[in-house]
Amino acid sequence: MSSDARPPNSTPATETPDHEQQATELDALAPPLKPFWISKYKSEAAKHWDLFYKRNTTNFFRDRHWLDREFSSILSSGPIVALEVGCGVGNMAFPALERNPELTMWCCDFSRRAVEFVKANPGYEGGQGRCRAFVCDIAREALVEHIPPQSIDVLSCIFVLSAIPPELHVETLKNLASVMKPNGTLIFRDYATNDLAQLRFLSQKEIPKLDSNLYVRGDSTMSYFFEEEYLRGAMKECGEFVEEVLERKGIEVENRKRELVMERSFLQGVWRRK
Ligand SMILES: C[S@@+](CC[C@H](N)C(=O)[O-])C[C@H]1O[C@@H](n2cnc3c(N)ncnc32)[C@H](O)[C@@H]1O
Repeated sequence: MSSDARPPNSTPATETPDHEQQATELDALAPPLKPFWISKYKSEAAKHWDLFYKRNTTNFFRDRHWLDREFSSILSSGPIVALEVGCGVGNMAFPALERNPELTMWCCDFSRRAVEFVKANPGYEGGQGRCRAFVCDIAREALVEHIPPQSIDVLSCIFVLSAIPPELHVETLKNLASVMKPNGTLIFRDYATNDLAQLRFLSQKEIPKLDSNLYVRGDSTMSYFFEEEYLRGAMKECGEFVEEVLERKGIEVENRKRELVMERSFLQGVWRRK
C-alpha cells in the first residue's frame, strides 16, 4: 500500500507494526457503501457464492491438508461424527475422510452448486459412503432441520464466518452449538484484521466497505476480518462454548501461478461445547 493512502496527520504507533496501524485507521475513516448496496450484497450472498462455484468449479481452494498439523489430529482417528459448515466443494472433508476410516462426515453449504460438487466427488460414493451433504444457510436456517440435535463430535468452521455479516454471527454460533454433543469440539480458522487481503481492500480508491472490517470482493462475495476480542465477545454472547485456544497466526501462503509468497494473518481457535 502506498504511504499516501495514510490519513493526514497520522503517525505510526511505536508498539504496533506500521501496517496494522494503517488498517485500523483506514477502516475507521472509510465511509461504508450506500445502504441499498449493503443490503443487496447481504441478501444475495448465497447467489454470489453459487456464481463463484459456477465460474471456478472445483479449482479454486486447495485441499486443507494442514488440518492435522494445526488442530493436533482432532479429526484423524477414532469413530468421530463431524460436520463441516460452509464446506465448499469438500477440500477439507475428503482428505479428512481418507485419513480416518472411522470418520463420518456431514457437510453443508448454502451454494447448491458447491453441494452438487461434493456429491459428484468419487469419495462421496453416491451417498452410500461415510459422507452426507446438504444445502443449508447456517445464518438463517436451523441445522437441526437437517441433522439430529447434539449429534456432532467435531464441527469445523473454516473461512466461513467471514462470509457472514457480523450482526448474524452470534445467532450462527448458537445454530452450530445446537447440533454439537456436550463436550464436542469446534475448530475455527478465518481471516484476521490486518491480513493482506484487508490491506488490499483498504488500498483501493473506493473502499468496498459494508461495515467495520466487512468488505465486498470484486465477485460480490463478502469478507469479514476478525479481531481476537471481537470473536471472544461473540462467543461469550452465544454462551454455549468454552475457549481452549485462540491465536493469531502469521502464515506464508505460496501463490504458485504468480510465483509469490504472501504473509497472511488468520485467527485460529478451538472451543469446547458446554
Ligand atoms: C471461503 S469458502 C471456504 C470453503 C471451505 N470451508 C474451505 O475452507 O475450503 C466459504 C464457503 O462458505 C459458504 N458459505 C458462506 N456463507 C454461508 C452460509 N450462511 N451458510 C452456509 N454456507 C455459507 C460459501 O458458499 C463458501 O463455500
